Amino acid sequence: MKTKFIFHILLMTAIVFLASCVKEGPIGLTGEDGLDGQDGQDGQDGNVTCLACHSGTTISARQFQYASSIHKAGTNVAYAGGRAGCAQCHSSEGFIEFQANGLVASDISMPSAINCETCHIIHTAFTYTDFALRSEEPVGLIIDQGVTVLDIGDGSNLCINCHQARTAEPQTASVAGATTFRITNTHYGPHHGPQANIFAGQGFAEITGPVTYPVAGSSKHLEQASCTVCHMDDYIDKQGGHTFKPSLAACQECHATENFDYGGVQFDTEEKLTELRDLLISLGVVAWYEVDQAYEPVPGTYPMVRAQAYYNWIGIEEDRSLGVHNPQYVNALLTNTIAALKATK
Ligand code: HEC
Ligand code: HEC
Ligand code: HEC
Ligand code: HEC
Ligand code: HEC
Ligand code: HEC
Repeated sequence: MKTKFIFHILLMTAIVFLASCVKEGPIGLTGEDGLDGQDGQDGQDGNVTCLACHSGTTISARQFQYASSIHKAGTNVAYAGGRAGCAQCHSSEGFIEFQANGLVASDISMPSAINCETCHIIHTAFTYTDFALRSEEPVGLIIDQGVTVLDIGDGSNLCINCHQARTAEPQTASVAGATTFRITNTHYGPHHGPQANIFAGQGFAEITGPVTYPVAGSSKHLEQASCTVCHMDDYIDKQGGHTFKPSLAACQECHATENFDYGGVQFDTEEKLTELRDLLISLGVVAWYEVDQAYEPVPGTYPMVRAQAYYNWIGIEEDRSLGVHNPQYVNALLTNTIAALKATK
């Protein structure tokens, strides 16, 4: 884009230069006027359409908000943004290629962090309409090769291209009737951002137990809110807008609460997560790994329910909303998983 912009300036300068350059001979010997220069090519209507976006605070306000988003920091772009298998979610180039072609054909040599152009189609028509989102299409779940399609609202559909699980839960991932599951490495799990699955109540290990699972699609937040409703409400107090951080103001449109721990749900979820982790440690499924400074699974072959329990624990942990995304589903998963582990101990 920079080159196009500079080209535009050069073009304008050339036009001005041609207009003022008239041949004149020495005084008293004025010769005939030279031929008129050819009209320069019209520049793009820069002043009109560029300014539809490049004026006021349209861009700068979002840049300011976006500066505090982890998307911009691009913490893992160098590590995962270039790899063909990871780039669709971990770099701007990868996401744009994936949205256009349905795959990332090969590694990307100079991956960049997610930016305005990743999510908006800027500099195409060169009008304000270029702020349209790169995609608002419903999104197929990776865990069942796209059989389940989620349609959770325009801007939020964009988010769930990336914020969803990549690996199905152990039972679904195994041959029918399998009673054991092999965890092959310490990074096993749904991958770090299974928010769409939790939000929609899709794809975790629904171990039977005392709490009945809510019918998929019945969650109140799924019905009434969405990723953008909670995470992109009007920017206020360093939350919402293009910070992508959930905002308390959004919650308060529906709840009388002074924090995200409405009804004590986050506190309760945290307690259950700790209890489940400690059960997994006592069963030898999870250990503290000094090198990674993290609780990780111990590779090995486990009874199915223990592998499923691990999947649920790490997935709910990495969803990071502590139950808010789907309070009833998370409560059922954790309560039933804990009960099942206790019963088989
Ligand atoms: C849809 C709104 C929109 C329109 C119309 C638009 N731009 Fe942009 N432009 C953007 C956004 C958004 C960025 C990226 C800002 C960022 O990365 O933080 C950008 C970036 C740029 C940059 C890079 C420097 C910078 O500010 O980051 C240049 C140069 C530029 N635009 C020139 C133009 C010119 C010239 C036109 C008209 C021919 C134009 N733009 C029309 C939205 C627009
Ligand atoms: C379907 C999209 C998707 C794909 C494909 C994907 N990731 Fe991710 N990854 C994410 C999201 C989303 C997050 C951030 C989740 C969050 O912050 O809640 C993430 C986070 C990470 C993190 C940070 C973990 C942490 O604890 O902070 C690493 C490292 C990572 N991914 C590596 C990879 C690698 C390596 C690959 C390819 C083998 C890959 N990812 C493929 C979506 C994806
Ligand atoms: C991760 C994706 C993402 C990134 C990155 C992003 N945006 Fe957005 N942007 C959105 C979504 C989604 C909406 C619609 C929000 C809603 O529905 O409430 C939006 C809305 C907007 C709007 C309002 C458009 C309208 O219809 O009036 C503007 C302007 C805008 N973004 C500018 C920017 C700029 C400038 C940047 C870079 C500094 C940027 N965005 C980066 C996702 C993104
Ligand atoms: C192109 C893939 C992609 C899209 C689209 C995307 N994200 Fe992300 N998001 C990520 C990755 C990757 C991370 C983690 C950054 C890292 O670890 O490198 C992340 C991090 C986050 C975080 C962590 C906190 C922070 O400050 O950024 C939130 C919240 C988030 N995303 C919300 C959203 C929402 C809401 C949308 C839709 C409007 C969205 N994301 C769209 C890939 C994406
Ligand atoms: C009902 C409101 C609500 C909805 C809907 C919602 N979120 Fe969240 N989200 C939250 C809250 C609250 C947190 C936890 C924030 C905290 O405790 O600091 C959170 C946490 C997150 C995080 C981790 C952020 C971090 O910094 O640790 C990501 C990523 C995220 N949400 C993405 C999404 C995506 C993607 C969607 C749509 C599928 C979504 N959220 C829908 C409220 C919501
Ligand atoms: C558009 C409306 C709407 C928004 C916005 C919204 N919620 Fe909700 N939420 C609901 C509804 C409806 C219920 C189910 C009825 C109830 O428990 O109040 C619910 C239930 C909950 C529950 C379960 C309460 C319990 O005791 O079981 C929690 C926790 C929750 N919301 C947290 C949040 C947080 C945190 C935010 C903001 C980040 C938020 N909600 C934003 C509509 C909303």
